[in-house]
Amino acid sequence: SPRVLEALSERELVVVSNRQPYAHNYEDDDGEITVSRPAGGLTAGLDPVMQRTEGTWIAWGDGDADFEVADDGRVRVPPEDPAYTLSRVDLSESDLEGYYYGYSNQALWPLCHGMIYPVRCDGRDFERYRAVNRQFAKAVTEEASEGSLIWFQDYHFALAPRIVRREVPEALLTQFWHIPWPAADTFEVCPQADPLLDGLLANDLLVFHIPAYVENFLDCVEREIPEAAVDRDHRTIQRNGRTTTVRAFPLGIDAERTAELASESSVWADLAGRYGIDDVTVALGVDRLDYTKGIPERIDAIERFFEENPERRGEFTYVQNGSASRSEIASYEYLQQRVDAAIGRVNRRFGAGDWQPIVRIDEMLPEEELYALYRHSDLALVSALRDGMNLVAKEYVASQLDDDGILLLSKFAGAHEELGEGAVTINPFDTQDFAEAIERALALSAEEREARMATQRQRVGEYDLFAWMDDVLETALDCEGEPDLDRST
Ligand code: G6P
Repeated sequence: SPRVLEALSERELVVVSNRQPYAHNYEDDDGEITVSRPAGGLTAGLDPVMQRTEGTWIAWGDGDADFEVADDGRVRVPPEDPAYTLSRVDLSESDLEGYYYGYSNQALWPLCHGMIYPVRCDGRDFERYRAVNRQFAKAVTEEASEGSLIWFQDYHFALAPRIVRREVPEALLTQFWHIPWPAADTFEVCPQADPLLDGLLANDLLVFHIPAYVENFLDCVEREIPEAAVDRDHRTIQRNGRTTTVRAFPLGIDAERTAELASESSVWADLAGRYGIDDVTVALGVDRLDYTKGIPERIDAIERFFEENPERRGEFTYVQNGSASRSEIASYEYLQQRVDAAIGRVNRRFGAGDWQPIVRIDEMLPEEELYALYRHSDLALVSALRDGMNLVAKEYVASQLDDDGILLLSKFAGAHEELGEGAVTINPFDTQDFAEAIERALALSAEEREARMATQRQRVGEYDLFAWMDDVLETALDCEGEPDLDRST
């Protein structure tokens, strides 16, 4: 919005995320730069804002020898037309072990998804996590002044806001938590609950995807920090003379760009031929291989579906586009084995001739192929056991240019708040009902499919990435009342 852009032309915007928006690959011989961008929606969406406001983005530089970075870790991006600064924080092996593989992904990730079994809240990992949060906070305070708007992304940085607050007490601090926030009796298992909450409460604004996570967070603060004054009506928390506002704004996607990519229909024939899926009804799953995504549960439902609908054999295929993720962690390695075994089992049991019930696409598809696959898939299966939002659901919807696909959507994904009405709702823990939901979806009339998809597509188009970003940034500015722009100089 104009207000946000005007405010950001006066104040420095500093974004902090674990993953970086650009990775530079320098060609050795002629020094020509090739740039790869992580496909993530958030980085793609924030980049144009950063370019307009000339802010600074701080992220982990992954230390790859292919990436050319100045000695101080700073680069101007985009390389072809430098507009803002990317400041990379270099992390050692042991930092990564403790901060990323350890505390972020073995404590906070499962904990926030309500999965207690794999949680490992090792105090040593936490110390690394704290040290890395300090390192990022230092990079922030080197850039920021009292007038800055500092925007932390996600669960990698629960402690950094408190550290930054000490250095620049008047800066505007906001954080978006991209994953769920768990119920209080789940969060309480965490021995580091207090410092985590204390860190997050240094923000002026803390944003989650949906109201349920906001409520859970307020519950946790009430339970763990008795001296904090939690105002349920205004969703604010007062403590030590400071207020933290807590809000829900569901992350959106760049729906227009998605639709454009999905309209590139020329790549479909080649892709379908390559994977032998041109003559079948296609159900699609796209995920990082993560135990929160409900992939084995989905395969169980597919198996049940073929058991109960033998006439579908030979004419229905489940396509799984899964990318390996965090594979150094035992629970991820184990998941990979479970998925491999389950797919092997179903394919051996039902596969016949050229037809395979499950086709895997393990490579990372180029964007236009991925969107062609979305567009031409008859069903999308989003079966997360718990998911902050799930952008795959939104990407599938935005790709349905002919309004003829059906989304089967877990009621445990944040996206269900917005898309539940048009979706076929599933509980991934209920194998029998999940299998029957596939049949129900296939039995829907063309009119019904169209009506459902049109509603969903409208929502995804209206509340897109940019509407979301405006909401977050406007609310951040509101947290300070009238912005005192003098302070930015
Ligand atoms: C989730 C998190 C992101 C993270 C992404 C990929 O969506 O919310 O912060 O970047 O997963 O995971 P990775 O560990 O590979 O960055």
